[in-house]
Amino acid sequence: MRFMYDCFELNNGIKIPCIGFGTYKATEGKGAEVIKAALEAGYRYFDTAAFYNNEEEIGKAVQESGIKREELFLASKVWKSDMGAEGTKRSFEESLRRLGTDYLDLYLIHWPRPDLETEEWKAILTETWKAAEELYREGRVRAVGVSNFLPHHLEVLFNAGGVCPAVNQIEFHPGYTQEFTLNYCKERDILVQAWSPLGRKRVLEHPLLVELSKKYKVSPAQLCIRYALKRHVLPLPKASSPERMKENLEVSGFEISREDMYRISSMPSAGWSGEHPDFERERF
Ligand SMILES: NC(=O)c1ccc[n+]([C@@H]2O[C@H](COP(=O)([O-])OP(=O)(O)OC[C@H]3O[C@@H](n4cnc5c(N)ncnc54)[C@H](OP(=O)(O)O)[C@@H]3O)[C@@H](O)[C@H]2O)c1
Repeated sequence: MRFMYDCFELNNGIKIPCIGFGTYKATEGKGAEVIKAALEAGYRYFDTAAFYNNEEEIGKAVQESGIKREELFLASKVWKSDMGAEGTKRSFEESLRRLGTDYLDLYLIHWPRPDLETEEWKAILTETWKAAEELYREGRVRAVGVSNFLPHHLEVLFNAGGVCPAVNQIEFHPGYTQEFTLNYCKERDILVQAWSPLGRKRVLEHPLLVELSKKYKVSPAQLCIRYALKRHVLPLPKASSPERMKENLEVSGFEISREDMYRISSMPSAGWSGEHPDFERERF
């Protein structure tokens, strides 16, 4: 089995590659070359956002690669400051233009609230979701979803009726697996995606991961990615070098035992980014 060519199926029947390339800060100082390298390494799914300020570079790399649009999976997100019906639709059109495409494969609401002060955030969120649903019904995007949503944020969408989100992209890595939200999503057939699947390197030197990576003769990063996949969570690792890009796709040649899955799942909390949708960011 080669995960780079395997897919998960979303709750609307759309196939999505099992591993995506995370692009936050990926192109800084390097431009489209990084995305070209990721395409060469085998990635076909690119996770971007209006906030990442790199959609143009991704569009450029994709166009110059000559790879057919239908072989790619392009996902973007509407930023907090653009929430609401008009802002969402405008932001979507701008993302399409920058990416040089006429549809997206996945469009996410980046965070559930525009900020922590706005009391009517639920109304703004509902409007944002309705705009995303409209784009979906018009066929401009193949699936719609959310990011950084906890169960009480998701319930705002459910209370509004309509389309069930296909995806919830949350921070997920050994040491921070958000079990409650993960289970809530699984019960409702919402695919969870892992942002910072390597804990942005913060967990790669954890003694348990170092021990297990020696046992399985893989790198701690490969262990983290395989762990996510075994939890049916779609990892979005970011890497700068072609070597690391490839390494992060080569995760099919080993099997983590049930005992070791339990050990990873119950390890002490580690590597949390400090970000939480309902609180100011913690700085460590
Ligand atoms: N929805 C959200 O709110 C949200 C938030 C954060 C991130 N994301 C998405 O998730 C993606 C991934 O998250 P992330 O970029 O925060 O962190 P990450 O993928 O967990 O970690 C990236 C870091 O790990 C290093 N790395 C990559 N492969 C490695 C390997 N094989 N061995 C050792 N180190 C390795 C990278 O270094 P080099 O770059 O130097 O290779 C980089 O410093 C983002 O790019 C973005 O698309 C979404």
